[in-house]
Amino acid sequence: MKDRKIVLVGTGFVGMSMAYSFLTTGGIDELVLVDVDEEKAIGETMDLQHGLPYARNKLVIKAGGYEECADAEMVVITAGTAQRPGQTRLDMTAVNTKIMKSITENIMASGFDGILLIASNPVDLMTYVAQQVSGLPKNRVIGSGTILDTARLRYLMSEYLGISTSNIHAYIMGEHGDSSFVPWTHAYIGCKNLLEMLDENHRDLQDLNEIYHQVQQAAYEIINRKKSTYYGIGLSLNRLVRAILDDEHVILTVSCYQNQEYGQEDLYIGVPAIITRAGVETIIKLKLNEVDQGKFDASCETLKEIIHSTIK
Ligand code: NAD
Ligand code: LAC
Repeated sequence: MKDRKIVLVGTGFVGMSMAYSFLTTGGIDELVLVDVDEEKAIGETMDLQHGLPYARNKLVIKAGGYEECADAEMVVITAGTAQRPGQTRLDMTAVNTKIMKSITENIMASGFDGILLIASNPVDLMTYVAQQVSGLPKNRVIGSGTILDTARLRYLMSEYLGISTSNIHAYIMGEHGDSSFVPWTHAYIGCKNLLEMLDENHRDLQDLNEIYHQVQQAAYEIINRKKSTYYGIGLSLNRLVRAILDDEHVILTVSCYQNQEYGQEDLYIGVPAIITRAGVETIIKLKLNEVDQGKFDASCETLKEIIHSTIK
């Protein structure tokens, strides 16, 4: 396996936003671009290569085929149909499942034995498909899950409270989609419990529920205006890749295989987890109150129904 080599499958808006970000952050040594549209992959490669003289560190960028996965540490999949105005993420299940199956088969045929990171939507379901088809250990197949939703939440809460995003320890759990939720009782601002802070400042939880609503609607708002979302997820994927390659042991909300940590099993869904070089090292178990456990279960049911009706 080569040091810090990653393969990106899907050179559309999302994939290229992540790819471009590595020129400014560094953190990888080699990036291979793969797409069913080979000319696009070559064009994107040339464009990125021309930025290399101004990049943060030396980096090999090339276009290639699935054989490049053989010695890659990670493969990131951002291929598939993107959401159109009026569609939900779940509406893309059938078409993207077919794409995800064929991509995963191609990756595994190369002899790949690293970590698979999925961003294609609906991401929790596509991660499930990739794990089932690849047969890789469940902790080495990871979906971006609610990492982007959590970033959106932290940004909006930071604006509302006037406190740095780095001190906003609030997490979105559940489906990366309409049935996600925030376990507010587990939110901290620095070392201070959020609900205590609101109480002391005579602020209302209603304002935070409004902020969550903005997060839940964010993708629809952006897609209506500019057709797709990509910078936020591009940076989220960059963050996750570096967390894995640097063995950071950082807590991020990603789509993880459930094995009764929250009373559910046989699906992938967004929960906080410790991310290391091994992938998902440990799922952080929170004691959810009855209302939040109900929201988590409902989110799982939404996904399980589709697993049974459309995927299996
Ligand atoms: P896009 O249409 O710009 O790019 C998709 C790319 O996938 C294209 O280059 C296409 O040629 C390629 N592709 C399609 N089928 C392929 C196949 N079989 N093999 C290889 N490549 C193939 O779309 P986008 O805006 O980049 O979005 C990509 C995906 O990411 C969508 O599913 C979108 O919903 C999802 N997304 C996820 C998040 C998240 O938070 N997880 C955020 C934004 C977008
Ligand atoms: C997002 C995509 C569309 O921006 O899933 O949330």
